[in-house]
Amino acid sequence: MSTRHDTVVIGGGVTGLTAAWRLTEAGQDVVVLEARDRVGGRLRSERHDGSLFEIGGQWVSPDQEALIGLLDELGLETYSRHREGESVYVDRAGVARRFTGEDLPVDEQTGKEIERIIGVIDDLAAHMDPDRPWEHPQADRLDRVSFAQWLDEQTDDQEARDNIALYLGPAMLTKPTWSFSALTAVLMSASAGSFTNLVDADFILDKRVVGGLASVPAALAERLGDRVRLSSDVTQVAWDSEGATVTVNGEQLRATSVVLALPPTHVRRIRIEPELPAEHRHAREHQSFGLVIKVQAEYVAPFWRQLGLSGTGFAPYELVHEVYDNTPDGSTTGHLVGFVSDVNADAVGRLSDEERRARVLASIAAYFGDAALTPSAYVESDWQHQELTGGAYATSFDVGSLTRYGRALHEPVGPIRFGSSDVAGLGFQHVDGAVRMGTRLAGQILAGLAAG
Ligand code: FDA
Repeated sequence: MSTRHDTVVIGGGVTGLTAAWRLTEAGQDVVVLEARDRVGGRLRSERHDGSLFEIGGQWVSPDQEALIGLLDELGLETYSRHREGESVYVDRAGVARRFTGEDLPVDEQTGKEIERIIGVIDDLAAHMDPDRPWEHPQADRLDRVSFAQWLDEQTDDQEARDNIALYLGPAMLTKPTWSFSALTAVLMSASAGSFTNLVDADFILDKRVVGGLASVPAALAERLGDRVRLSSDVTQVAWDSEGATVTVNGEQLRATSVVLALPPTHVRRIRIEPELPAEHRHAREHQSFGLVIKVQAEYVAPFWRQLGLSGTGFAPYELVHEVYDNTPDGSTTGHLVGFVSDVNADAVGRLSDEERRARVLASIAAYFGDAALTPSAYVESDWQHQELTGGAYATSFDVGSLTRYGRALHEPVGPIRFGSSDVAGLGFQHVDGAVRMGTRLAGQILAGLAAG
């Protein structure tokens, strides 16, 4: 069987669904092909014993204007993360220290060093257009050194280094700081407006969506109706000067434009004929997923609030390097969410489920005491085990590859366009970036048609 369309979008995450919705609004005949039996990609909610757990993305920050605009458009409401009370920092000696505000309870000199380096990164980020990081005035130099090396050059203060490393390595790019460049660290910062924004948990983890962030793809898919086809794992696209033919489930879909709204790592699962230029393949071979395990524990009550604690905690020295109150709006139980990143995630990934759970809960107890050891429910994210994602939160670039290949990531090839939050500028690695990429790809297709 064969059908004809204006645009076929491959991938039903927020990027693909946003592109499809904008094109549909403009009057195009669009089909979305999604490999999974659900839409949303890296956004997914689950209910365990009646409680909502967001397994993928969940937070919205004030700089994420494209996402906030879409939430308004879809009529989705937000609520603030619980943050009243003191935060906890577990120091190098394993001592849990309470603090309020942004300044970590480290010694004065270390605090000054942290502040100074935040200023240096802010300054570098202010000179970057996140859509074109390779044009940064210091791009070549910054892309040749790992972020770990760059940090070593900035200060001898180990605890200052450990904390700055935490913000950009485990907490954001979810890779060891020796595996990505200083330029990628600056991109991550510029994509959120500044490094100051990234280190401010009250800013970057500001709001959640009532019903979960996965309500965004669900609402878009509802609007798109039967234009969205699930269980359609595309493995073949053939293109020519007139358009492209997508083959899936024994059917051929012919379209003037095709959008591959996939993580860059997944483009090569598709056999594209004629094959992509070498630079495109190389560019994507130098972009890979980080790894973080999102761990969530539900308790009969938010016991930390009774202790005067907000549920927020940070520690570069803990297995769970950051933790927050994650109680859904209106819930009477208490939820905590924590993250185990990169090499720590590798290590606990080799343990049995029971051993990993025990290690994770012991680490959360280092922040909040032994009451953390006995949750009523415990849920881990599983993205690393899913072929259609493969890691978390997103993909980032090898040392040296942004300046070498970055430009190719946005180049169309014939009628095929590429995009996902992994190649966004503003909103890089975030749902906001997915909305921006989807909107941009749709705009480019419509502008191309208008230009004739
Ligand atoms: P995404 O990967 O979501 O979509 C791609 C789609 O393509 C998938 O549905 C996939 O199944 C499909 N696909 C792949 N190959 C295919 C093929 N051959 N044929 C058809 N379909 C195919 N962001 C944020 O803003 N706030 C947050 O708090 C967090 N936190 C967070 C936590 C965790 C654990 C994760 C994993 C991620 C986040 N994120 C986040 C990141 C955010 O979830 C992510 O950036 C976007 O959801 C990515 O959306 P995309 O549509 O670009 O890709």
